[in-house]
Formats: sequence, structure tokens, C-alpha cells
Amino acid sequence: MDPKEQLKRDAAREALSRVTPGMRLGLGTGSTMWHFVDLLGDALAEGTLSGISGVPTSERTRDQAAERGIPLLELHEGAPLDLAVDGADEVDPHLDLVKGLGGALLREKMVVQAARAFVVVADDSKEVSRLGTRAPLPIEVVPFGWESHIPALEALGARGVLRVSEAGDAVRTDNGNLLLDAHFEGGIEDPFEVENRLRARAGVVETGLFLDLADEVILASDSGLVIRR
Ligand code: 5RP
Repeated sequence: MDPKEQLKRDAAREALSRVTPGMRLGLGTGSTMWHFVDLLGDALAEGTLSGISGVPTSERTRDQAAERGIPLLELHEGAPLDLAVDGADEVDPHLDLVKGLGGALLREKMVVQAARAFVVVADDSKEVSRLGTRAPLPIEVVPFGWESHIPALEALGARGVLRVSEAGDAVRTDNGNLLLDAHFEGGIEDPFEVENRLRARAGVVETGLFLDLADEVILASDSGLVIRR
């Protein structure tokens, strides 16, 4: 296995050790979560875990989990969830996160909101000293008037770029919305202020800032696992 994929799998395996029989799980989205869902599928098939159900945060995760025979629930059926597990694009020293490069930020945040605990799985390349330095901040917006957010982002010190596919089409989220990627020169100085200012705007559905939400971050590196709480 590619060494980077092995790190993701190591983090996912550690997160799986937090899962006990009968738990209702939030199942995040992304390449690291792919390993978690895969390992969870193995554990159910082998009978080392039983009675598990999950709420997927994207159609991709729904498809993978269904293929692996993981019983699925709608969010209102599963809530309160025992544990949400998800990846991240950035993790800062306060365990605040940027998420959403995979485009699933809205459902991911709704699932975390419904969970009693939230564990993040990542490789150590996601560690940053300041959010917004490694990745842009994804923002889900309704299609109507999306361009009107660009000057507001500029006022916050960010360059907003509509996310497009390789074919040049605007990317649509699972919810039919658009994504703006906000590039902050030098990172995000005050993530809470940015979150409040963006969330106050009509037309902004959700941001990829996950602040004060993570209970534990499992980071896999070449020298082993680092657990932050
Ligand atoms: C999707 C996300 C993912 O969790 C994030 O992009 C990390 O993905 P990966 O594990 O592939 O690096 O927020 O919306």
C-alpha cells in the first residue's frame, strides 16, 4: 500500500478501536474515512463488532457503507449519535479544523452536531499552526447570487474562488449548492470572527470551520500515532 494510504489506514484503525457494539456512528467523508468504513465493514463481516449503524455524511460514503453491509440510518433516526468519525483538511493546536475539501461540510457538521463525541482521523500532513495556511476555507452557498459573497470575502481578507470540476463546470454539493474556496493570505487570524461573519450572511449555508467540536484527533505519522485531546 502507498505509504500515505497506510498512514490514513493506521489512523482509521485506531478510531475503530473507539467503537463498541451497538453504537450509532456518524460516518464522515474523504479518503481517510474510506479506510474507516472499509475496516468497519470488515469488523461487521468478521463479527468482531455487531449492532452498529451509521449515518453517512455524503452519497459517496452512503454508497460505500451500503456496499459493505453497514446498516444505515437517516440523521433523525440515529440522533443522538454515540460517535462521529471524520477526516479533516487542517487541524490546529486547539483541535479546531478546516473541513470540506471533499465538499461534504454541511452534512458533516450536522452529523457532528448530533453526536455525543467527535473523533478526527488524519495523517500528520494536516497539522497546521494556523487554520487557512494549508488549505482554502470551503464555504457552501446557495446558487442564487453566489457572486455577491466575493466582495464580502475580500473584506475578510480572502480571495473567494468558485469550485469547478476538471471539466470546468461548477461543482454541486450533495445538497445542490455551490462551493466557494476562500484563500486567506497568511491564514485565518480569528477563525471565530470569520465564522460569525460568514454565517451571518444570507445565502451562506455553512462553512468548513469546525471550531470547538473535536474531542479527539488521531494523527498518523511515520513515527507512529499521535493522539490529541
Ligand atoms: C470532506 C472533508 C474530508 O474529511 C476532508 O476533506 C479530508 O479528506 P481526506 O481524508 O481525503 O484528506 O471534509 O468534506
